[in-house]
Amino acid sequence: MNFKDQIDLSKLPKHIAIVMDGNGRWAKEKGKLRVFGHKHGVISVKDVIEGATEIGIQNVTLYAFSTENWNRPKLEVTAIMEILISTINRETKTLVDNNVKLNVIGNINALPEICKRELSQAMQKTAHNNRLTLTLALSYSARWDIANAAKNIAIAVQNGELNVNDINEEIFPSYLNTHNLPDPELMIRTSGEHRISNYLLWELAYAELYFTPKLWPDFRREDLFEAIYDYQKRERRFGLTSEQLG
Ligand code: IPE
Ligand code: IPE
Ligand code: MG
Repeated sequence: MNFKDQIDLSKLPKHIAIVMDGNGRWAKEKGKLRVFGHKHGVISVKDVIEGATEIGIQNVTLYAFSTENWNRPKLEVTAIMEILISTINRETKTLVDNNVKLNVIGNINALPEICKRELSQAMQKTAHNNRLTLTLALSYSARWDIANAAKNIAIAVQNGELNVNDINEEIFPSYLNTHNLPDPELMIRTSGEHRISNYLLWELAYAELYFTPKLWPDFRREDLFEAIYDYQKRERRFGLTSEQLG
């Protein structure tokens, strides 16, 4: 089935969040080291971003490295950082050419200096692009972001910039790293794992969840189109009854 042609372009999710999982298992299946899987995962990233721009998706957020991932073997962490640095360096021009804006969420200060530099250069060069915003979640954990937001809200109150009675569901997310993004309407996780793994806990409140057994290095734009097609068949009720939605 050609899923792309079945997609209703007037009802695209405004934001798709992806947990790119299964790189290690993909490599293991092939008798290779885990790093081999991470390298191949980059091909999937490129294809998915191209597919997303092709149909007009405006926001894609990729879970590339979690706070918890720092606890992996040092060799793997170093290899992932190197892949990140070289990919950003190599692909910035493609982002510029395709009018893609690069954005980052997470504890950026925990990243190696060279990585921070590459990221900030790429973000500067793509700052005025507006076809698609590609957000990388790096050294990211939703609990970290939420706790951080609480801290910054407390500081704002202490400084007299914010009134305690004004703290509500609208104000709170303006203190999150994702404050410039709409909430994801679709969350995709590859590799058959059915969990959130500390990803966008606040923002995913009403997202449609889509799980596929495909390992991330095998995931391509057609799989993205299939996920969007599946999403469009669902009834999003937001607490109402089916009848109320008419
Ligand atoms: C996802 O693939 C990439 C990162 C977490 C950086 P994994 O490395 O988690 O692969 P599996 O889940 O072990 O197969
Ligand atoms: C989640 O994948 C983080 C990323 C994809 C970057 P993990 O593979 O780290 O998650 P768990 O450990 O299976 O929950
Ligand atoms: Mg994993």
